[in-house]
Amino acid sequence: LNKKEVEVTFVKANGDRLKAKGKVGDSLLDVVINSNLDLDGFGACEGTLTCSTCHLICSQETYDSLPNKPSEEELDMLDLAYELTDTSRLGCQIILTEDMDGLTVKVPATINDARS
Ligand code: FES
Repeated sequence: LNKKEVEVTFVKANGDRLKAKGKVGDSLLDVVINSNLDLDGFGACEGTLTCSTCHLICSQETYDSLPNKPSEEELDMLDLAYELTDTSRLGCQIILTEDMDGLTVKVPATINDARS
């Protein structure tokens, strides 16, 4: 019942570091919403893989350590994100595991809603 909590840090383009706690099994989008993080426009499609506003940039090390690899659908949607990098992911597709405590991800400066 008592699911383990992991701490995640979102680093904004202006250098602000937003720390939040999430539960194992939550997506990074859940963490942003549940913690009411101040990330304008983030997660516009509520995790239905149609917006790319939940674009996050990982370090190479973090990217390689994530247990689930991006699906075709995620990669297609990432193609529509601004500032795409080789280590970009969609926050709604990253699911927290116990090992991810201390995870740090970068939030790109611009958010593109692929639906508009
Ligand atoms: Fe829209 Fe992730 S929240 S693609």
